[in-house]
Amino acid sequence: MVRLPETAKEVVDLHRSHVFYSWAAQGTVNPITMDRARGVHFWDLDGKRYVDFASQLMNVNIGHQNAKVIAAIKAQADALVFAYPGMATRVKAALGQKLAEITPGDLSKAFFTLGGSEAIENAIKIAKLVTGRGKIVTRYRSYHGATMGAMTASGDPRRLAVEPGIPGVVRVLDPYYYRCPFNSTSPEDCGERAAQHLEEVIRFEGPENVAAVLMEGVTGSSGLIIPPANYWTRVREICDRYGIVLICDEVMSGFGRTGKWFGIDHYDVVPDIICMAKGLTSGYLPLGATVVRDWIARHFDDNTLWCGLTYSGHPMSCAAALACIDVYSDEDLIGNAQRMGQVQSEWLETLKRKHPSVGDVRSIGLFGVIECVKNRETREPMAPWNAKGSEMGVMADVAKSLREQGLYTFVRWNWIFCVPPLCINEEELAEGFGMIDHALSFADRGVV
Ligand SMILES: Cc1ncc(COP(=O)(O)O)c(C=O)c1O
Repeated sequence: MVRLPETAKEVVDLHRSHVFYSWAAQGTVNPITMDRARGVHFWDLDGKRYVDFASQLMNVNIGHQNAKVIAAIKAQADALVFAYPGMATRVKAALGQKLAEITPGDLSKAFFTLGGSEAIENAIKIAKLVTGRGKIVTRYRSYHGATMGAMTASGDPRRLAVEPGIPGVVRVLDPYYYRCPFNSTSPEDCGERAAQHLEEVIRFEGPENVAAVLMEGVTGSSGLIIPPANYWTRVREICDRYGIVLICDEVMSGFGRTGKWFGIDHYDVVPDIICMAKGLTSGYLPLGATVVRDWIARHFDDNTLWCGLTYSGHPMSCAAALACIDVYSDEDLIGNAQRMGQVQSEWLETLKRKHPSVGDVRSIGLFGVIECVKNRETREPMAPWNAKGSEMGVMADVAKSLREQGLYTFVRWNWIFCVPPLCINEEELAEGFGMIDHALSFADRGVV
């Protein structure tokens, strides 16, 4: 039997020799070890406790080690570990039905994947198959995944190293009001102009060549951009005008994160396809889904769906998702995301008043970010887009301080993400924001 490494040093050393980390020059990675977890906390192999303000990778929405989901996984393992995707199983049937119930409008049929990137890949394929068109319009401030198609669809700089990627991806500017590319003076104007810009680009590209518009419901890792109230409705109108499939990426903003099942639910818009993953199982097992509206589902009654994966609809993952969805409802986690989201947003406003380095704070439900600037007038970011190494400046000190204090989250360029599990309570939020308050004193040193 394989002997598991015991100490933190042994674990890290073995990783260094034999395991790659994501998105990093391997020599620069200084990992936290992880031993056990519960609720909003986890512990490293030396027994140090961390508050998890990133829900790991913005996916452990229900919190760590929920007993009901673990029991469901164990029961499914006893009943049936695997069935090939062509088999009909009880858990896959029930999950398809459940997703039709919680998604908006007539979104009704799911293709199951292993995660978010594959959900995006299959949405792109489906949009191309159903329209017979080739181009996909996405936004610059976006992340849709790491596989080649999803990576190309992303505006995130992680795409740059592997460009040109797949053909036919065209990107547009974002309705990012704090840094509005159209110099708007109201969120509505920013939303309207961003929509006009989208339509103009579509016309330049030839609407008859555009299969889909693909956007995050609420933008996550590219700066937590909450679309202005009018934006999504305008995007829906434009897609309808030109027969373009509207794909909403809810991989990060779905499953209660924003205080509703899906980010798009705040806008009363029904996209043609929703991509989901992360909170679908809260990471207890890997699963994603591409869920389509009736008219797309009907198209594939007579036309072949050219999509397939060995692990599509894996019974273990479907069982975990069903239990996880029950937990959202039974424990009122979406209601808690709304209530604690209010508390979080008060904390964010308090920190903004106190710290001159805080230029903007944004949050919806328990999906929040602090945007640090060198100067509130000029809004110069405390670290630039795609900052690396020493370009991080004082933001590196912020990250170091958070880790030392025992708060785990993402400090990406000039953003500090606040995305805790949805089961968090007021005391736990206070503990986390207390640590962020202290860390921001390092950012304040960068103010000019
Ligand atoms: C909005 C969004 N889409 C897609 C993905 C890709 O999902 P995965 O990493 O599960 O492939 C992510 C991952 O962070 C994401 O945030």
